[in-house]
Amino acid sequence: MRGKFISFEGGEGGGKSTQAARLAGYLRSKGLEVVETREPGGTKQGEELRDLLVQGDPNRWHPYSELLMMTAARVEHVNRLIEPALEEGKWVICDRFFDSTLTYQGIAGGLGLDVVRPMQQMAVGKTVPDVTFLLDLREDAGLQRAEKRGGAARFEKKEAAFHRDVRDGFLALAAEDPKRIVVVDAENTFDAVWQQIEGVMQERFKL
Ligand code: TMP
Repeated sequence: MRGKFISFEGGEGGGKSTQAARLAGYLRSKGLEVVETREPGGTKQGEELRDLLVQGDPNRWHPYSELLMMTAARVEHVNRLIEPALEEGKWVICDRFFDSTLTYQGIAGGLGLDVVRPMQQMAVGKTVPDVTFLLDLREDAGLQRAEKRGGAARFEKKEAAFHRDVRDGFLALAAEDPKRIVVVDAENTFDAVWQQIEGVMQERFKL
């Protein structure tokens, strides 16, 4: 049987990676085979593109170049890793997927969903997440947490208005597609956030 595809989304510092790792452990404890991965990245090609994308000056790339590189990394990821794993019955947990491109490049980056959306549909085909957890928090709280952790500094350096648009963008996508995108209040404690995720997983997938 085909595996399930779960993505985690949100602004900076929302705790996506930690919750994704916890979910992976939970699914493994149920006897499922799980692949944990991230975007941009997840393949050798994607990780090479990631180095170009997440480091350096915030204005290092023209927004269209950024869109094309994010999407190129995704095409490699879907074709080499995600889709083959799902076909083998593995469950795939991905830290960010195409909603990040819709929000960061399409909405906050100003390229427009009319440009970004068709390109994402072309890049992923039928490989759409079964469920997406949006870890939502105030952007200033998230940026503070992200700064402490270090990491994808190029986007963190963008101005406050950009991060507000990222948050609003994600919430707008969730309002459009509430069946797939589950909004979780990431200002809650780690355990409270996890309990909500676990509850949704049990209900949707009868775990
Ligand atoms: P992260 O791994 O810490 O989430 O960092 C990845 C950064 O790249 C984050 O700031 C969001 C950004 N990003 C985009 O702008 N568009 C995308 O499509 C993806 C996957 C990430």
